[in-house]
Amino acid sequence: MKTEFTEKEKAPLASLDVWEDDLLERYPEPENIAKAKDEFRNYDNPQRDTVREFYRLNHTYQTYEFVQEKRADFLKFDRKEMPIWDAFDFLNTLVDDSDPDIELDQLQHLLQTSEAIRADGHPDWFVLTGLLHDMGKVLCLFGEPQWAVVGDTFPVGCQHSDRIVYPEFFEANPDAHDERYNTKYGVYSPNCGLRNVHMSWGHDEYLYQMMKDYMPEPALYMMRYHSFYAQHREHAYEHLMDDHDREMFKWVNLFNPYDLYSKAPVPPNAKELKPYYEDLIAKYLPSTIKF
Ligand SMILES: [Fe+2]
Ligand SMILES: [Fe+2]
Repeated sequence: MKTEFTEKEKAPLASLDVWEDDLLERYPEPENIAKAKDEFRNYDNPQRDTVREFYRLNHTYQTYEFVQEKRADFLKFDRKEMPIWDAFDFLNTLVDDSDPDIELDQLQHLLQTSEAIRADGHPDWFVLTGLLHDMGKVLCLFGEPQWAVVGDTFPVGCQHSDRIVYPEFFEANPDAHDERYNTKYGVYSPNCGLRNVHMSWGHDEYLYQMMKDYMPEPALYMMRYHSFYAQHREHAYEHLMDDHDREMFKWVNLFNPYDLYSKAPVPPNAKELKPYYEDLIAKYLPSTIKF
């Protein structure tokens, strides 16, 4: 298995946000569908080429074995220990090639998401989920390639659905040619439940593992599967889900628009909001978290 990657292979995107911009084109808000189609017709789009390259790398290297190695490494949580708010400051040190004038920092995306959830009167643990949901992106600061931090997630260890974005790139994934992993169920059994299924490695699973002892189950589903577009938007993995997953995915579906569409016209004021969120963090989480 290839373990050394060049800088170009590690960071095909100018910023992690480019993946989210691409999601917005793929899954536009209903009122923006016409506009998104228009933008899509704009063929001369260098950003889209970087997204393609990002998915080529993601689909090539996210194998069953790769996921097991990342789990064995990162789920030791032996890199850092810090309070949640320090983790946000840490996350904001993520500097990339994007234009700082147009890109929001990471904490602002988290606060926009959580504030939109709060404004709709949802329970406080749901608001907290909005605040935390992308905290796992600190993986990038531990030197991980972008395609092992963000990107649509998908089950590994069984056939890749053609409803995953850019399915043709799975041709280069060794698992697609390994008979242990390339059948409909692969290492799994029918409707075994997603708790028994390994997902491609990234910020979702990492955060879930960090939070699993502290947050209510719907919150954990939202954290763990928020990038699983092949299921929550495309319904391509019903055959691995059980009834409990289906019940819990109502929450994943409820969360997704807050993640994608909650760009407030005025950026949230992190300083003003901090006391409210510090109390909320203290209600559910220990004073420090291991990363
Ligand atoms: Fe995310
Ligand atoms: Fe997000």
